[in-house]
Amino acid sequence: MPEVLAPVPMIDVPVMAKLRKIRTLTAREKLFDVELSGGLALNHKPGQFVVVSVFGSGEAPISVSSPPNPGSPSFQLCVRDAGSLTHHMHALSEGSPIGIRGPFGNGFPIEDLEGNDILFIAGGLGLAPLRSLIRHALERRSRFGGLTILFGARNPGERLFREELEEYAKDKTIRFLETVDVGDDAWTGRIGVITTLLKGLETRPRSTVAAVCGPPVMYKFVVLELLSRGFLEGRIYMSLERRMCCGMGKCGQCQINGVYVCKNGPVFRYLDAKRLPEAL
Ligand SMILES: Cc1cc2nc3c(=O)[nH]c(=O)nc-3n(C[C@H](O)[C@H](O)[C@H](O)COP(=O)(O)OP(=O)(O)OC[C@H]3O[C@@H](n4cnc5c(N)ncnc54)[C@H](O)[C@@H]3O)c2cc1C
Ligand code: FES
Repeated sequence: MPEVLAPVPMIDVPVMAKLRKIRTLTAREKLFDVELSGGLALNHKPGQFVVVSVFGSGEAPISVSSPPNPGSPSFQLCVRDAGSLTHHMHALSEGSPIGIRGPFGNGFPIEDLEGNDILFIAGGLGLAPLRSLIRHALERRSRFGGLTILFGARNPGERLFREELEEYAKDKTIRFLETVDVGDDAWTGRIGVITTLLKGLETRPRSTVAAVCGPPVMYKFVVLELLSRGFLEGRIYMSLERRMCCGMGKCGQCQINGVYVCKNGPVFRYLDAKRLPEAL
């Protein structure tokens, strides 16, 4: 029987949370271990996001990067220092309070993914949301077919979750390939954009689901490559980013042709995403 995660009661007003631990991953990204106060549990699904309040700065949507942990108040957020709010968040110290709303969005349809081969394709910060699904699948290895993880970063310094990447490379039960756009003196791995990892990779398109997350430009090239291999449009899942405000289908900020990316997404099948103008 496929595992079904219980429907999640959503926290729709900010609740207090504490930054338990902060780790620097790269020059631009930090990993925050967050703990909700008041005995609340997040109960998220892979691919869902929370809206973080940094007091005095406002709110921003951030994907949950850790796998589901039902009943637990703890979860992880991988945040890039991209602007005003995220810069303030990077300046916070362990023990600092933040506010959390969520989890929001549909997440990946994990029950439907079980029994299939999964091809994870993560570009740059796209590994942050995809990591939740990857760790979830690795924790339930026997429920899935072959697992393949492809990761691409702009340069070696931007490789996220390095220790986990080394783990994946050693794990004989999965296939892991990574590349960087531009190497450095110490880099001995592959060089090239992420689609180069697909060249020569053996896949079983009819029994594989692709989960893709990365910068918008990556989707176009990755999807073309997958389709040319015979992947079905309805079996390519992608997580889309739009400017968001409420995160819960109320303000219309994220809307494209009546589709609310925050609520109907952010995870879409390519079959549906291709009909949304400007989405890709
Ligand atoms: C569903 C969802 C999940 C996300 N998950 C993560 C995550 O896991 N980790 C993470 O670091 N970031 C994530 N983001 C992006 C994050 O929300 C933005 O980087 C953040 O809102 C920027 O806020 P700021 O005040 O620091 O930057 P601002 O000062 O507002 O902006 C800095 C720059 O980022 C651009 N920008 C801001 N928001 C977005 C956006 N939504 N899409 C594209 N460009 C944007 C601005 O145009 C500007 O160039 C996610 C966004 C969405 C919609
Ligand atoms: S962000 Fe408000 S409706 Fe989607």
